[in-house]
Amino acid sequence: MMPKLGVNIDHVATIRQARYSVALAKDTRKAYEPDPVTASILAHLGGADVITIHLREDRRHIQERDLRVLRQTVFAKLNLELAASEEIIKIALDEKPDQVTFVPEKRLEVTTEGGFDVVSQKKRIAEVIKRFNDAGIIVSLFIDAEEKQIKASRDAGTQYVELHTGDYANAKDAKERNKVLEKLKMAASMARNFGLMVNAGHGLNYNNVGPIVEELHAEELHIGHSIVSRAIFVGMKEAVQEMKELIYKHTMLRKD
Ligand code: PXP
Repeated sequence: MMPKLGVNIDHVATIRQARYSVALAKDTRKAYEPDPVTASILAHLGGADVITIHLREDRRHIQERDLRVLRQTVFAKLNLELAASEEIIKIALDEKPDQVTFVPEKRLEVTTEGGFDVVSQKKRIAEVIKRFNDAGIIVSLFIDAEEKQIKASRDAGTQYVELHTGDYANAKDAKERNKVLEKLKMAASMARNFGLMVNAGHGLNYNNVGPIVEELHAEELHIGHSIVSRAIFVGMKEAVQEMKELIYKHTMLRKD
């Protein structure tokens, strides 16, 4: 099956936030450009299967208003990334995205670094997963491709894991990249044997997504920075369409 494409539109909001406070000072009732809501509609028209946003504790890009309006306007699956903080959990339970993905959050990081550590907080995460599942919301855990994290994810009762592809994207040469890809494949197969569904993301772009599509057989690929970057020049709909075509092409090239 062809992997679904999740488009992360956080960085549309990053551009807006560069001027947002000035705009808000003038009129809090007005939207301000560029609006991630417009981006989500165009991404959907380009073929996005999932729209992803990350409501960070420091609100550096996506705001609660975005989550609220997107919940009302997204026809694709809405996936909310969040840290395991009670404040954000409550907002998520109120707004009811279709899926939540737990990610680690550090204030000084530029983007999500490293996977979510399920091992050290398994009991608490199991309780949080239950609260979301009881509310009809699917849960995914963004983890490193490590056996202990996969086992802990299974024990905590998640439906999906999202394997962190940052090391794959940042590999210094083809040899290292293949090594990381093998590790990701083993992790994916272990997770599937446990009955978990496997997503993947972070650092994927138009140049490196091919082998991931051909070999990892993920349910969903979550891609943000590279799509938003291309969208600046070619438009959001076109940028998403180009990524979908690449995913299709590489799905057809699969050997198994
Ligand atoms: N998946 C998760 C869990 C993330 O936190 C991010 C970054 O927000 C992505 C995927 C997308 O990463 P990138 O912006 O590098 O494509």
